[in-house]
Amino acid sequence: MADVKEKIKQNAERIERVLASYCKDGDGELCELFDSERYSLLGGGKRIRPFIVNEVCAALGGDVGVSMPYGAALEIIHTYSLIHDDLPCMDDDDMRRGKPTNHKVFGYSTALLAGDALLTKAFLTAASNKGATDKMNAEAVRLIAEAAGECGMIGGQIIDLAGEHKKLSFEQLLRLHRLKTGALIRCAACLGALSAGYGADSKEYKEAEAYADGIGLAFQVVDDILDATSTEEELGKSVGGDAEHGKTTFLTYFDVDGAKEYAKELTDRSVAVIAEWKNPETLIELAYYLLERKN
Ligand code: IPE
Ligand code: IPE
Ligand code: MG
Ligand code: MG
Ligand code: MG
Repeated sequence: MADVKEKIKQNAERIERVLASYCKDGDGELCELFDSERYSLLGGGKRIRPFIVNEVCAALGGDVGVSMPYGAALEIIHTYSLIHDDLPCMDDDDMRRGKPTNHKVFGYSTALLAGDALLTKAFLTAASNKGATDKMNAEAVRLIAEAAGECGMIGGQIIDLAGEHKKLSFEQLLRLHRLKTGALIRCAACLGALSAGYGADSKEYKEAEAYADGIGLAFQVVDDILDATSTEEELGKSVGGDAEHGKTTFLTYFDVDGAKEYAKELTDRSVAVIAEWKNPETLIELAYYLLERKN
């Protein structure tokens, strides 16, 4: 486990150097926008999605130089989604990653526009991946658009908001999370497989997606447990919000121990799918690391 923690850290440092190289500065009227984008893009975070992209690529014998820009693109989408998610019209949160949220520092309109700018920057990034072919880049852009859009993350955000006013069934809760957080996590695995040269019809691509589906759901179960059992200081973000808003969470259907057991089952099933790969060790360790994470 110490090993995967170190690998995540090294990957995060690498991805942050790549992200920093995309940040712009010093352009008169645009300074504030660029600063707002940089504030959230380089504002910490575990960088799990690009880690999955790179590690699936490596586990399937691919070159991380090819997958890295796709991982960066996905992290840029993730960052935009958090800026918008924290806005007053959404979750209205003041703290993110231990720091004031983007709109608290830059104001609502700049935060909104920084999110828009990052969303579009992500597609530019994936389309401009020089280590991949034009065909791969077109497919990467398509995958990211699908995962981030109406039948992916945004669809999940809509179901999440609707869930503030009505109790969701367990099936609806699973759908919510498969879209809200799961879509980007599955996309990360698919981009990793694509980078290693595996197409959507291949066995490996489907296994990568199934692995990510399970760890993505487990990720959200753990998120609900942490939200209910941690302090704001431990998490670096507002806590208890979901329960306060009367939202359905996994703790609506399980007690804390039951939820932990469910997350463990999902994780065990995910790693079983890729256990026969040639080099699955890091992905297996990642799954258990995410299960035991504290933030
Ligand atoms: C937090 O995602 C928001 C969700 C989608 C649940 P992460 O837990 O990956 O956030 P960071 O990037 O590490 O801060
Ligand atoms: C954030 O979900 C998910 C997206 C931004 C797509 P949450 O609202 O549950 O996550 P936190 O608690 O703000 O990190
Ligand atoms: Mg939210
Ligand atoms: Mg939120
Ligand atoms: Mg949450």
